[in-house]
Amino acid sequence: MVKLDNNFKIQKITKITPKHYQLFLSADPSRSIVDSYLNRAYKFELVHNDTLLGVLLMIDTHPQTVEIVNIAVDETVQNQGLGEKIIRFALDWAEKGHYQTIEIGTGSTSFAQLYLYQKCGFRVVNIDRNFFVDNYADPIIENKLVLKDMIRLKKAI
Ligand code: ACO
Ligand code: ACO
Repeated sequence: MVKLDNNFKIQKITKITPKHYQLFLSADPSRSIVDSYLNRAYKFELVHNDTLLGVLLMIDTHPQTVEIVNIAVDETVQNQGLGEKIIRFALDWAEKGHYQTIEIGTGSTSFAQLYLYQKCGFRVVNIDRNFFVDNYADPIIENKLVLKDMIRLKKAI
């Protein structure tokens, strides 16, 4: 694990590189699904001394509602608070943009992600049964389980 100082920033992505894609695909293994939201997404990156360490993609879903559709931190620097910092940035950005609701969805087997999102104030609102069976070509195994259902969470801004 690489230890970090506080010398990082979150900024708009101006050019998508293969490293960005690697991070997008760590959060969402389907390249075609990533491509389906990439063009219309608000795109941000977390960099530390010019090294790309994290990504954040958000899209408009309903009136005054934005969804975090992709968030990822480089695996060498996970569990040091960067994911939480990216989420706090998203909440702040949404508040400044006068959104009323922010949404996020994750796998029912994504225990660490479910912990983090609830720690940041998101509440479970819905379950998309078989979302990962119906929308992904290959089975996804996570935490020794076959991922089938998506948990949807929301937070009022
Ligand atoms: N069960 C419960 N909690 C756990 C577990 C676990 N198995 N593993 C880690 N945690 C906790 C850590 O202790 C930490 O909590 P703490 O700060 O209270 O101690 C927390 O989870 C992680 O918080 P951060 O360090 O802020 O987050 P991190 O920088 O690791 O980023 C992220 C989190 C983005 C989910 C990262 O792990 C990642 O990129 N994962 C791979 C991609 C991914 O799954 N992205 C999300 C998919 S859903 C979507 O994109 C909409
Ligand atoms: N995240 C993910 N997996 C975990 C975690 C964690 N934080 N902690 C433990 N596990 C895994 C273990 O590794 C193990 O999995 P594995 O066998 O694949 O390695 C599994 O969880 C636990 O399985 P068992 O050993 O079979 O279960 P255990 O004998 O520990 O009993 C129980 C589970 C009944 C939930 C026990 O922990 C308990 O009594 N907890 C307190 C009471 C409780 O919460 N009861 C359930 C409330 S809901 C209800 O009653 C309807």
